[in-house]
Amino acid sequence: MTAYADLKTRLAQEPHTWLVTGAAGFIGSNLLETLLKLNQRVVGLDNFATGHQHNLDEVQSLVAPEQWQRFKFIKGDIREIDDCRSACEGVEYVLHQAALGSVPRSVADPILTNSANVTGFLNMLVAARDSGVKRFVFAASSSTYGDHPALPKVEHTIGRPLSPYAVTKLVNELYADVFARTYGFEFIGLRYFNVFGQRQDPDGAYAAVIPKWIASMLRDEPVFINGDGETSRDFCFVDNAVQANLLAALASNADAPNQIYNIAVGDRTSLNKLYELLRSSLAERFVHLHDAGPQRRGFREGDVLHSLADIGKVRERLGYSPAYRVREGLAKAMAWYVANAGHVVG
Ligand SMILES: NC(=O)c1ccc[n+]([C@@H]2O[C@H](COP(=O)([O-])OP(=O)(O)OC[C@H]3O[C@@H](n4cnc5c(N)ncnc54)[C@H](O)[C@@H]3O)[C@@H](O)[C@H]2O)c1
Repeated sequence: MTAYADLKTRLAQEPHTWLVTGAAGFIGSNLLETLLKLNQRVVGLDNFATGHQHNLDEVQSLVAPEQWQRFKFIKGDIREIDDCRSACEGVEYVLHQAALGSVPRSVADPILTNSANVTGFLNMLVAARDSGVKRFVFAASSSTYGDHPALPKVEHTIGRPLSPYAVTKLVNELYADVFARTYGFEFIGLRYFNVFGQRQDPDGAYAAVIPKWIASMLRDEPVFINGDGETSRDFCFVDNAVQANLLAALASNADAPNQIYNIAVGDRTSLNKLYELLRSSLAERFVHLHDAGPQRRGFREGDVLHSLADIGKVRERLGYSPAYRVREGLAKAMAWYVANAGHVVG
């Protein structure tokens, strides 16, 4: 039995109380769904800045009514310490996902990104510390590797951040570390690499590449590749990220807490390859994609060229074992994308 299968069996028999911040967002709503299906009690906190009520509605439709009754939602803002304190009351494990994602958003409005990602993060740390939670697991980011050229990325070797967003995610790690040393607080930071899957927003100026491209392909709109397309990413299906959060919260070995871990698959896909994967899988159903091709434009400010994770540390210390590679994750999520990526042509 894998560490994750074992953990799920134990959890289902022994409910805990969890706080998921950003519960109406992409990763948060997937955490919520898994926890409720394991009969856990969950508090959700979200201000709907980029999350949606329809994500919560979808989770409700996927769990049993008695499981949904174990969920309490607080519409609130992590920039308000009182909202953070109310949300942390009686909570054992915090899975902190709420933040403003997107490199270009942070380039356009660094103050806004900083307020959610740094002030909001610090509020959550203080509230979690004061309410005595057992462990604080948070969404860090591979953007922290910045301009360091080494591949694969190993946790202790980072470069200079390339965007305001990356600065905020690095500051999160620094604050968590200082809280551990100053207040005896337990944290785990999960450096997610390009996560994708069901409920990832396909719309808006700051949509991530996979849902954005699928939506464009379905609408028969141009798909733009920034740069020569040989830029690569370690795309990580959201169920792998959920696995990492649960393992991180409950790991009991002494060397597990107060660490940062890469969360990815350990596999690199170029944008050109990704385009072809998406196009060919959709072309089976949508004839207008049979001989479609991408349009090319300049490289995007603040983006890193290549990203590939070394996942040795998280395998060893948390027992993480990604169950989905990129192709399998896309196969699992494609039906959701097709149903939710807006008006479909053909
Ligand atoms: N998706 C990825 O590939 C990826 C990669 C690296 C890191 N991350 C991090 O993972 C976390 C979740 O990202 P996601 O992809 O699910 O994004 P998302 O935008 O779908 O979810 C973020 C959620 O946080 C909420 N939120 C934002 N500001 C808030 C505030 N001030 N108060 C309360 N709620 C607030 C939003 O409404 C949204 O529901 C973020 O911290 C993000 O930085 C994501």
